[in-house]
Amino acid sequence: MGQTKVLAHRGYSSQAPENTMAAFRLAAEADADGLELDVHLTKDGEVVVIHDETVKRTTGKKGRIRDLTLEEIRRLDAGSWFSESFNGEPIPTLDEVLSLAADKGLWLNIELKNNKIRYPGLEQAVLERLDRYGMAGRTVLSSFNHYSLRTVHELRPDIDTAILYMADLVEPWHYARHVGASSIHPYWPTARDEVVRGCHKAGLPVRPFTVNRQEEMRRLLHVSVEAIITDYVTRLLDERNATGS
Ligand code: G3P
Ligand code: MG
Repeated sequence: MGQTKVLAHRGYSSQAPENTMAAFRLAAEADADGLELDVHLTKDGEVVVIHDETVKRTTGKKGRIRDLTLEEIRRLDAGSWFSESFNGEPIPTLDEVLSLAADKGLWLNIELKNNKIRYPGLEQAVLERLDRYGMAGRTVLSSFNHYSLRTVHELRPDIDTAILYMADLVEPWHYARHVGASSIHPYWPTARDEVVRGCHKAGLPVRPFTVNRQEEMRRLLHVSVEAIITDYVTRLLDERNATGS
């Protein structure tokens, strides 16, 4: 297995408003290997990048993504809640992130946020865009909705898919295979050394989230996980350099 990849969680979200182009660009400038981002489907079928099902927390306005059109969403300010210097940062489309990733050679972890709201057609819409930007070979699709991953696997078995989970699962590689997923994205406390070893034996890459503490970074680098998802890109890059992993 090669060097552990550094994936910027919602972009470089400790330094810029999460899931905005500012956060994605900053991650690229800091030399992250890739980006993690969350996607939803708008009322008019566009794929947009935001964590929550509603725009409330990051824009202060009311409304669910699925009830708003892209035009309505694009008028919102998703930057100033974080700091005044990001006033007017819009909610990006998936196309914008794909274009940046294709241009900069970044890896992508697109998280399908369809575990609370189902968004029929989200999988197809994302797959179509991956092909359009030539990013299918450098992207993993993850979700807490494992039925959605099964749908992706049925549509496109060549695409890397990852089960996201929080529970301390026993031998999760069996379950991942049962779903049809090709990798696992565990909540970091559940990424026990034995789980990482078992997954590697089964040929499944492991990419824990969201790892912000230095000692955890060190442990996971030591067991050679395929990637680590973090809010602190530079901290993880420094740790990787120091350990030579
Ligand atoms: O994809 C890893 C991580 O982003 C999952 O949790 O809530 O930050 O999207 P959340
Ligand atoms: Mg996420």
